[in-house]
Amino acid sequence: MTHQIFGESEKIFGFRDLRVNICCSAARMKTLVQVKHSGSVDSVEDIPADDIMQLLSQHLQPGFLTNESEFVKELANESTFKPYGELIHSYQVTKGGESRTFEMFRTSIETPGFRDFHERIQPFLLFYVDAASYIDVDDEKWTYYLLFEKYQFEGSTRYAFAGYMTIYSYYAYPGLIRPRISQVLVLPPFQRQGHCAAMLQAFYNLCYKNDDIKDITIEDPSENFQRVRDFVDARNCMTLAPFKSLKLLFGFSGDMERQARIKFKINKKQARRVYEILRLKRTDPSNEHEYREFRLDVKRRINIPFQKRGREFDKLSKFLQPTELAATMNSQREQRLEYLQSTFEELLEEYQKVIERLNMI
Ligand SMILES: CC(C)(COP(=O)(O)OP(=O)(O)OC[C@H]1O[C@@H](n2cnc3c(N)ncnc32)[C@H](O)[C@@H]1OP(=O)(O)O)[C@@H](O)C(=O)NCCC(=O)NCCS
Repeated sequence: MTHQIFGESEKIFGFRDLRVNICCSAARMKTLVQVKHSGSVDSVEDIPADDIMQLLSQHLQPGFLTNESEFVKELANESTFKPYGELIHSYQVTKGGESRTFEMFRTSIETPGFRDFHERIQPFLLFYVDAASYIDVDDEKWTYYLLFEKYQFEGSTRYAFAGYMTIYSYYAYPGLIRPRISQVLVLPPFQRQGHCAAMLQAFYNLCYKNDDIKDITIEDPSENFQRVRDFVDARNCMTLAPFKSLKLLFGFSGDMERQARIKFKINKKQARRVYEILRLKRTDPSNEHEYREFRLDVKRRINIPFQKRGREFDKLSKFLQPTELAATMNSQREQRLEYLQSTFEELLEEYQKVIERLNMI
């Protein structure tokens, strides 16, 4: 994704066989930018060729390298790199008999060296998160959680940066904190190995222990991240009595909302979503009655905003002729039914993916 750098069409103008390589060292994330092409124009019809370095330099940390041998020299410093902040969680990922170690650190911007490091990791958001924006690091309410792979190389312990999360501490009445997960990124070589779920759970575990935290929110989650969140929240709620088996078939209860909030600091909207996922998981698709009840229950929830609009409509109806009223109501009803069905189907698709993952644990 490069639209924030090169414009909506994501095209670079004025070069033949263009290649822009951006390399980062694994630990310190020192950046090398190389532009290669087989020919360029100064301008076409008064439109100048894009100044790639200038466009990139508006987003990358000042002082990024453009010379390969200087970059190679920098690599010698990788062996002495130590992650920033305090170690809060460590875990292994095993695949094909090979076990790899990952460590998660919590830091503030004040940790020596981290401000600089953050300037180098932040541009990755532009490439991997749609509509990403940079944060104001001078606001002390930000906390940073960093994930590194820890490995041995040539007799020394090395680290490779794998991903990070930023959390903003909002105020919650009365005198409490409502952390909001803002930016989350797992770098592509580390994706789909369970790291995001592990990071989220490690952060949650710290929150559970903190009585000052009211509940945990997430800022505008992407679909992929929402799925990870649904999986982690559902995995946790499955251990609570109100979310167990038969109880799910009787609808979303106050007990579910309360326990999800008290035990796992999950807000009402997300607790309801988790209930729907776990109810679908419990529902026998071959049992027509059970499945119909589930569908109606979800659709009733999706319909709530329309009911509110319905009350506004009652007022409006006083000013319409009976024929006008009937026509408007029919078209609105059709649109609403279509919307309910398509939203239900989209949700079903998302929920099924979460259930597939839950079935693997
Ligand atoms: C969204 C994002 C943070 C998820 O990180 P991740 O570490 O890949 O997440 P996880 O590994 O926990 O889960 C992701 C998927 O991998 C699958 N997975 C996890 N472990 C796996 C394994 N060992 N083998 C195969 N698949 C696995 C999960 O089932 C899940 O599948 P799904 O997408 O079908 O639901 C990451 O993709 C990312 O950084 N994306 C770009 C930035 C972004 O969108 N950030 C969120 C902004 S709000």
